[in-house]
Amino acid sequence: MNIDTETIEKLIGTALEYRLRAYTPYSGYNVGAAALFEDGSVTGGCNVENAAYSPGICAERNAIYKAVSEGHRKLKAIAVAGSPAGDEISQYACPCGVCRQVMREFADPGECEIIVVGPAGEYRVHTLAELLPESFGPDNLGK
Ligand code: THU
Repeated sequence: MNIDTETIEKLIGTALEYRLRAYTPYSGYNVGAAALFEDGSVTGGCNVENAAYSPGICAERNAIYKAVSEGHRKLKAIAVAGSPAGDEISQYACPCGVCRQVMREFADPGECEIIVVGPAGEYRVHTLAELLPESFGPDNLGK
């Protein structure tokens, strides 16, 4: 693991805080995320749904796009806490495939850590490379 326990716990706290702001009248499934960038900044996000469904956005992408908009570029780690509405985290919710690809755009897959929050304060840590093997990224386009 590249990041220390204190940082992991801080990211989990931020993800849980942002999860409370999820706007989910259609799924009732609330997700919070906290993205840590190489410059030390932490940006939170929640999922935001829409009556037309497809314009909705996941918590992870919301957090990453917010941070990129503020000028942060290199994603170091991201904590994700998802569960049906309610205070308790009742399951491990790994990021969806689209969010994994968005992480790939701003991260080194072998280094970037994804902290998935589970029940009772437990968590699991994966690298992006584990969750998105053999990925396509900016380097494929010479970037
Ligand atoms: N969701 C996320 O926010 N992150 C994920 O990685 C998976 C799914 C959201 C999208 C939608 O608002 C709700 O969870 C149910 O799919």
